[in-house]
Amino acid sequence: MSFFRPEIEALEPYVPGRQPGRDVIKLNANENPYPPAPGVRAALAALDADDMRLYPSAVSERLRAEAASAFGVSSDWIIAGNGSDEVLAWIVRVFLDRGDEIAVVDPTYTLYEVLAAMQGARTRRHPLSDTYALPAAFFGAKAKVTFLPNPNAQTGTLFPEEAIRRLCAGSPGIVVIDEAYGDFAGVTMMPLVREHGNLIVTRTLSKAQSLAGMRVGFAVSTPAIIAGLCKVKDSYNVNVASQAAGAAALADGAYLRATVAKIVATRERFAAALARLGWRVVPSAANFVLVAPPRGTAREWLDALEAKGFLVRHFNTPRLDNMLRISIGTDEQMHALRACIDALRF
Ligand SMILES: Cc1ncc(COP(=O)(O)O)c(C=O)c1O
Repeated sequence: MSFFRPEIEALEPYVPGRQPGRDVIKLNANENPYPPAPGVRAALAALDADDMRLYPSAVSERLRAEAASAFGVSSDWIIAGNGSDEVLAWIVRVFLDRGDEIAVVDPTYTLYEVLAAMQGARTRRHPLSDTYALPAAFFGAKAKVTFLPNPNAQTGTLFPEEAIRRLCAGSPGIVVIDEAYGDFAGVTMMPLVREHGNLIVTRTLSKAQSLAGMRVGFAVSTPAIIAGLCKVKDSYNVNVASQAAGAAALADGAYLRATVAKIVATRERFAAALARLGWRVVPSAANFVLVAPPRGTAREWLDALEAKGFLVRHFNTPRLDNMLRISIGTDEQMHALRACIDALRF
């Protein structure tokens, strides 16, 4: 006999990227190789013990005010979470009952499916085309919640605004556009939340703002939807240090643009270099590339690269199992990885 709900008993949990010590070149979790904006260090240094003694703002007041100004919406259209994964968990909790269905593309971020399963909801996967374009059936999906990262997780594909508009207009349920990698693409669907009452755009400071360790994410939607999400959040869900660091990062738009430009330039150089070595490189609008080796299996490359001190990501799923997802590090790191790949023989 089990004490667990059947959904939890049967659950295959999400497997996050490994977080080993610092003696590897870590390109497996789409973290940022550059430090956060200088104001973040100053904001954390300004905290004292008394700030730890008291609970933080329950509604992340200053953090949301900075997000409002960075995103161009007012604060009541924003809720802050302990990472955007927490925001995704609220969405599943407030909109899905047992037996409901979510729609996702395949391949994509697998956490959506895991969260839905916890709720007893089913997932309908819509396979992307061979060039990773959206399939027609995705637009007709009658799901309670549709999740789509833009750019897409694992492939880096950017979907056009026209497609997102069609998705929102044709969906009877909620549409979640997960913009975890949006800053690297330089586009956002946030303005569409005024036109489509079923749209939620999620954001994270883990990637472009270099704050993965602080866990700060957001949902942007109508005040009515934000109020509904707020009902299920923990009272003090974002801690004092994360609120201060997040606000400081959001206040420095110039630093963000400079960091993103460096990463995008490195990505393009690295993609071209790998293509010259015969690798298939999926065009990416994010801070990673999905690549397929010209010889040997992805698993063999994964192990060989790890033995040389490079950690990259492999997904053991049908469409990704002979590919590697490589996060973009500094120019020096990517140069070293390219040289290592060139030297490895199978
Ligand atoms: C598409 C996507 N959404 C959300 C997240 C989670 O971000 P956070 O660190 O804000 O929880 C990730 C992390 O890799 C991601 O790839």
